[in-house]
Amino acid sequence: MNKREILTQYPPAQENVLQILHHLQNNNPRHYLSGEDLELAAEYLNLTRGVIYGIATYYSMFSLKPRGRHIIRICDSPVCHVFEAGSLIDELTHILEIDAGQTTADGLFTLELTECIGCCDEAPAMMINGDTFGHLTGKKISALIDRIRKREN
Ligand code: FES
Repeated sequence: MNKREILTQYPPAQENVLQILHHLQNNNPRHYLSGEDLELAAEYLNLTRGVIYGIATYYSMFSLKPRGRHIIRICDSPVCHVFEAGSLIDELTHILEIDAGQTTADGLFTLELTECIGCCDEAPAMMINGDTFGHLTGKKISALIDRIRKREN
């Protein structure tokens, strides 16, 4: 679907800005909003570039730089921390050989820290793309990453 087709799926009302930005980002194989995306959304919604840029940078789910094919978002909020999320973040940075906020050299994974993802009863928790995973352990994380790597090779 091209960008114009995405835009015209929504009435050109400012209350649709988040949905439109999400759709544009999800449509991009590198999971980010390009300058062109922001420009088109601003024009379509009759907003200034500054307003659109402000929105895209305010919400952590939007990225203005290319990301990996799989976005890993591990919860960095208090409940997950009580259940050892800190050591799991260390485990992920070790397995992926990147720090939070970075993308692996092969372009496969981006690791991000996130606020509560609403799975506190399964803490520690994370998301990979749109799927949530809870009751995480180092072993479980390793198996998830291995499974994706095998599928992609
Ligand atoms: S605090 Fe981690 S999912 Fe809620």
